[in-house]
Amino acid sequence: MTIQDRNPESDIPGKPTSASRTTLSHIMTNNDTNLLGTVHGGVIMKLVDDVAGAVAGRHSGGPAVTASMDEMAFLEPVRVGDLVHVKAQVNWTGRSSMEIGVRVLAERWNEAAPPVQVGSAYLVFAAVDGDGKPRAVPQVMPETEQDRRRYQEAQIRRTHRLARRRAIMELRQNRAAEGIED
Ligand SMILES: CC(C)(COP(=O)(O)OP(=O)(O)OC[C@H]1O[C@@H](n2cnc3c(N)ncnc32)[C@H](O)[C@@H]1OP(=O)(O)O)[C@@H](O)C(=O)NCCC(=O)NCCS
Repeated sequence: MTIQDRNPESDIPGKPTSASRTTLSHIMTNNDTNLLGTVHGGVIMKLVDDVAGAVAGRHSGGPAVTASMDEMAFLEPVRVGDLVHVKAQVNWTGRSSMEIGVRVLAERWNEAAPPVQVGSAYLVFAAVDGDGKPRAVPQVMPETEQDRRRYQEAQIRRTHRLARRRAIMELRQNRAAEGIED
């Protein structure tokens, strides 16, 4: 797989992954809990969307909106008093879209133990102009073997997302053509 250093449709120079990699950290309090007393998944998802938005904005050099969020995995519960670190980077770029990979780590706020991974997510952001229309982004330039693996895996997810969307559109068109209403 060739990773291009310019967006073929815009001639914008590429940007390295490290230029926009970002971490957001937050201590969980009683305001963040669900009825079971552990941290609400939606609180973590908000942090994930926030940090991914910061990465997308930094990489694309302007506004970017969440187009989709998939594969949000919660591996361990997060508790009050946990210091949560949400780390994000651009995994892959298309013409106007970017896949942002996010890792969620937690450690006790007052203990010097290594953080534990508690979740991960992949989001697609689209860079938009002042009218909310998609605009071209710089190609991401992976720098390490891990970045290159993430780029290749993101490409696979992209292929599956597009295929799923196309299959659903076709199904709907076929049902409409047969006169089926729902
Ligand atoms: C995302 C959005 C800008 C896409 O606009 P659009 O007119 O459909 O434009 P396109 O079809 O050209 O899509 C733009 C890019 O986003 C990608 N994209 C669009 N919808 C997507 C989805 N559901 N999943 C993954 N990628 C998606 C396209 O593949 C395309 O990528 P590329 O340019 O790299 O090839 C538009 O749907 C939008 O504004 N959505 C609302 C976003 C928002 O408000 N988010 C916050 C929610 S509160």
